[in-house]
Amino acid sequence: MTKHTVTVTDNLTGKEVELDVLSPVVGPKAIDVRRLHKELGYFTYDPGYLATASCSSSITYLDGGEGTLMYRGYPIEQLAEESSFLEVCYLLLNGELPNKAEMQGFEDIITHHTMLHDQMQYFFRGFRRDAHPMAIMVGVVGALSAFYHDDLDIHDPAQRMRSAHRLIAKMPTIAAWSYRYHMGLPFMHPRNDMSYAEDFLHLMFATPCEDYEVDPLMAKALDVIFILHADHEQNASTSTVRLAGSSEANPFAAIAAGIASLWGPAHGGANEAVVNMLTEISESGESLQHWVDKAKNKDDNFRLMGFGHRVYKNYDPRAKIIRELANEILDRLPPDNPHQKLFDIARELEKVALEDDYFKQRNLYPNVDFYSGVIFLSMGIPVTMFTVMFALARTVGWISQWNEMMGDEENRIGRPRQLYTGAEKRDYISLEDR
Ligand code: ACO
Repeated sequence: MTKHTVTVTDNLTGKEVELDVLSPVVGPKAIDVRRLHKELGYFTYDPGYLATASCSSSITYLDGGEGTLMYRGYPIEQLAEESSFLEVCYLLLNGELPNKAEMQGFEDIITHHTMLHDQMQYFFRGFRRDAHPMAIMVGVVGALSAFYHDDLDIHDPAQRMRSAHRLIAKMPTIAAWSYRYHMGLPFMHPRNDMSYAEDFLHLMFATPCEDYEVDPLMAKALDVIFILHADHEQNASTSTVRLAGSSEANPFAAIAAGIASLWGPAHGGANEAVVNMLTEISESGESLQHWVDKAKNKDDNFRLMGFGHRVYKNYDPRAKIIRELANEILDRLPPDNPHQKLFDIARELEKVALEDDYFKQRNLYPNVDFYSGVIFLSMGIPVTMFTVMFALARTVGWISQWNEMMGDEENRIGRPRQLYTGAEKRDYISLEDR
């Protein structure tokens, strides 16, 4: 087969360079631009990486036009329906679904790494009570590196895997403690007889004074939400983890960097914005058409939060699954529950927007955040914890991507170049002469 290449001609000098076109298993091909600088002396310019593949990866594939998402080749719908979050963690980390013995072994490892070192409580206690749980997460996850000095050789695959297990196992405890501390509630310790999602609900809502019974529907819904958020290829926070880790920083520091990136409202903070918007709509007394018209008005900054996506130009497959989950949960709650109204508004708003030409022409569909906030509220999880929930679930994706990068022979320290727009060389003038 003839090699696929593209030839770039410099109109100024007449020089040419032939660049290889790389073929993925599925999806758009990529031009290997590495020779461009070597042979023509040019960098490529692509702010926000809109047209740049920053790495090769065999973990997650998504097709925004089709609205499909796969982890290691398995469609998200099948995993959400038939798998469990811990099985998905194994899949993302190891590349294949586990057999029964491997699954048992993995569950055992994760279950027995959930406790935090006793000293960790003093990190939490050092924060102000009104600290945002995400601020606590960034600090505490970074601080984990201080507890595993002797197990941080990033060139040893076994030590890398141990760090991955520790992170996946401890994240629910850290997330729940950030909430408990904020609320002034005593820390609960993990329970080995519970599943991952059950244990998280227990860590969040149990008290030492009485038994806590986990609602199986809520635990199941949470497990599915964790699956849906587990990975999403090279988004901002994952790319941050890769870039931080590329300098051979330890994995806890790299994941803390990812959490910081996720915190931004354009990334992990959108479901919070959706709930705020639905509440505002509910309290306004205005018609839904009024809000849709407002979102269309270019002189108004308002956007329909939870609508549109940088990559999905079709229905976000995760949003479909989450909408069904929300239906199931809210059907079970009494009709006068305080979150029903927000959910009803969300469903109606979706209908009005999807029938509107503005949204149709721009391929704007609900994204994963449109319904997840309403579900969290129904579970008793407050708005300030929404991004923490995302971080908890995404940890496995981050650490799988980091581990893949560390084992990749092509991995180099990430060092983007720039198009310099500053002053040309000039001479220093002493302060007296300025
Ligand atoms: N409401 C109204 N109009 C919108 C919306 C929206 N939610 N989203 C996009 N548009 C319009 C834009 O005004 C633009 O219109 P124009 O072509 O007339 O100028 C067009 O659709 C394309 O929008 P862009 O902003 O160029 O699309 P981009 O891919 O850069 O943005 C984004 C994607 C940031 C997600 C955007 O759709 C948005 O702001 N959505 C609301 C916030 C949100 O839900 N974020 C969560 C993303 S999912 C996640 O991070 C897990």
